[in-house]
Amino acid sequence: MQLNAPTVRPESDVLSALLQPIQVGGVTAPNRVVLCPMTSCFADEDGFVSDRMIAFLEARARGGAGIVMTEGAAVHSVGRGWKHHFKHL
Ligand SMILES: Cc1cc2nc3c(=O)[nH]c(=O)nc-3n(C[C@H](O)[C@H](O)[C@H](O)COP(=O)(O)O)c2cc1C
Repeated sequence: MQLNAPTVRPESDVLSALLQPIQVGGVTAPNRVVLCPMTSCFADEDGFVSDRMIAFLEARARGGAGIVMTEGAAVHSVGRGWKHHFKHL
């Protein structure tokens, strides 16, 4: 059986496009690498942003991700499912 040669190489147009800036709404991200949401449970006990959450996301942004997503956030306190569940209100 013959295996196909890889079609994506480091110097390919696809990968160079990944490193190009992209505008999302009114913001321009420096590249198209996106950190997907992860349930870190780094909100404080009341669901607010904590220093630990900021440090976690900041480290990923400094590492080069062009767009960093937060984890899922409850839109209201009554919708929080667990301790340290992030919330909007
Ligand atoms: C709100 C939210 C929280 C998530 N939390 C996690 C997580 O804690 N761990 C994880 O592996 N994936 C988590 N995911 C999924 C990843 O963000 C991502 O979508 C997934 O890993 C993409 O891989 P796939 O599309 O190949 O399945 C979460 C997704 C959402 C929308």
